[in-house]
Amino acid sequence: MSQPRVLVVYHSVEGQTARIASRIVEVLAAQDLEVEAAEAASAPGPEGFAGVVAGGSIHAGQHSRQLTAYLTEHAEALNALPAALFQVSLTSADETPEKQAEAGQYVANLLAATGFDPDIVARFAGALAYTRYGFFKRKLMVKIAGRDSGATDTSRDHDYTDWEAVELFARDVAAYVLAGPD
Ligand SMILES: Cc1cc2nc3c(=O)[nH]c(=O)nc-3n(C[C@H](O)[C@H](O)[C@H](O)COP(=O)(O)O)c2cc1C
Repeated sequence: MSQPRVLVVYHSVEGQTARIASRIVEVLAAQDLEVEAAEAASAPGPEGFAGVVAGGSIHAGQHSRQLTAYLTEHAEALNALPAALFQVSLTSADETPEKQAEAGQYVANLLAATGFDPDIVARFAGALAYTRYGFFKRKLMVKIAGRDSGATDTSRDHDYTDWEAVELFARDVAAYVLAGPD
């Protein structure tokens, strides 16, 4: 019998969401699933897949146009499948209730804007990717990180992602997809 196919669709600006998507792909593939990963701008529709994982990062308080457009266009098909969302932001690196609420609001805004209604949602802390920023973005992020007591050493990147949480999320998704429709 052929393995159920899962689509991992994501948008990443500086690479952290792409790295998280890759880890999710590895975990899903190790759980008897066939996995296809695609960037939101060129991803296939969800038809024919047994489940979908969508992921995107927050910039200036918002998800990307690319992920938002994909989820809007395919909301109906996505909502008929086992579907999961992961969000990547620096807000989630701060565990205060205010910042957790802010990260939750980014998710709520995305779901309201697109009509996407995922079964599983995870919010991961992202990275300060200083070595991947240009001059102005680096200056801006140092200023923001300094204000929020984040790392300001620009000689290296700072990874705040909880990779164990990423793996747990992927295993949850695998179990949910393999359980099949209710
Ligand atoms: C220019 C810029 C703006 C950002 N704005 C926000 C923001 O408004 N809220 C937030 O929580 N994180 C913000 N971040 C942090 C990103 O979400 C974080 O760096 C994430 O790891 C980026 O993921 P990506 O590399 O997949 O795009 C911003 C990052 C950059 C570079």
